[in-house]
Amino acid sequence: MAPVADFEQMWRDLAPVGRSASSGGYFRQPFTAAERELDAWFVEQCRARDLEVERDRFGNTVAWWRPTGATGPAVLTGSHLDSVLDGGAYDGPLGVASALAAVDLLRERGHRPARPVGVGVFVEEEGSRFGLACLGSRLATGATDWEHARTLRDRDGVALEEALADVPRGEADLLAGVGCFVELHVEQGRDLVDRDAAVGVASAIWPHGRYRFDFTGEANHAGTTRMEDRRDPMLTYAMTVLAAEEQARATGQRATFGRVDVRPNGTNAVPSAVTAWLDARAETPEHLGAMLADVERRAQDRARHDGTGLTVTAESVSGAVHFDPDLARRLASPHGWPVIPTMAGHDAGVLSARGVPTAMLFVRNPTGVSHSPDEHAGTADCLAGVVALADTLERLT
Ligand code: GLV
Ligand code: MN
Ligand code: MN
Repeated sequence: MAPVADFEQMWRDLAPVGRSASSGGYFRQPFTAAERELDAWFVEQCRARDLEVERDRFGNTVAWWRPTGATGPAVLTGSHLDSVLDGGAYDGPLGVASALAAVDLLRERGHRPARPVGVGVFVEEEGSRFGLACLGSRLATGATDWEHARTLRDRDGVALEEALADVPRGEADLLAGVGCFVELHVEQGRDLVDRDAAVGVASAIWPHGRYRFDFTGEANHAGTTRMEDRRDPMLTYAMTVLAAEEQARATGQRATFGRVDVRPNGTNAVPSAVTAWLDARAETPEHLGAMLADVERRAQDRARHDGTGLTVTAESVSGAVHFDPDLARRLASPHGWPVIPTMAGHDAGVLSARGVPTAMLFVRNPTGVSHSPDEHAGTADCLAGVVALADTLERLT
């Protein structure tokens, strides 16, 4: 059996897995070799700690610490191990490694939890492979139905059901006895830097969504087709990017086109089609709806002008989340941790939306950069996060 590793050793063990030699970023898409290596590492670390590993049929995992006498609603912690394409080391794995280290610290302190404690890993939190954010937690909570999810396909046409075929799974309902969820996460902004705090607690998550824009036009020769004779979907797409940026700036919201497919993607041909994905986030569902409606209206106007076609499909929408305010206050007050909102989505938001009392702890990120190889948190802050999570679990159990 593998030895129990402390936080810093765990971090060193995880560092090379799925790391690109050229960018230094991580490619840990769900059910790929790198992500499976992380899964095997997690199970090994759980077994080294005598935690009982359970799986559900979607590939999610929870490892239980159930000392004699621990009964009643469980306290679940943990996060995810997958990454965005070329992502950072911390988004997800920090919450998993910190959860294991927090269990170790509680044991060192001699704490005997009165309730079971679970360390969980949800699959495909980023939606980087199948497009739906927080897919594992959505399936575990029933927020997304399997009949819909099983047919989702990745960029190579592999369906989720096929990708799961070789993944170790079980029959457990991992959330059945869970009374509370606490997810620790690297902060994805600079709020804690500005507040000079190593740790914070989340108050809310902005509503957000991913919308697929399918622009169609007419493939033609780049040299011989007069400019006025073209039906170029790239132009409509380009104008839509500018409209989204303008609208988001004007209203204080967020709009990003980070992914685009061009067909046939040849230098000397007017494209036949462009598919692009808008990631939109806003303070309230009304702001989100208004921003999307405005961008779509302007895109359709431009499509008429360009003689192109456009359809917009919502692929992944997450409502506003307001974390349990009493729980947030109870956790934050004794330590003076700031309580701050975030614009990033999390499995904690999915569980909260399904009625599980949920809290999030954030660990300071000195640059605020995330979803990037440059994402970072200092070791001292990570260790402060472990202590904060252990304190929180101790209080809750
Ligand atoms: C998840 O990290 C998201 O907000 O996209
Ligand atoms: Mn992320
Ligand atoms: Mn995350």
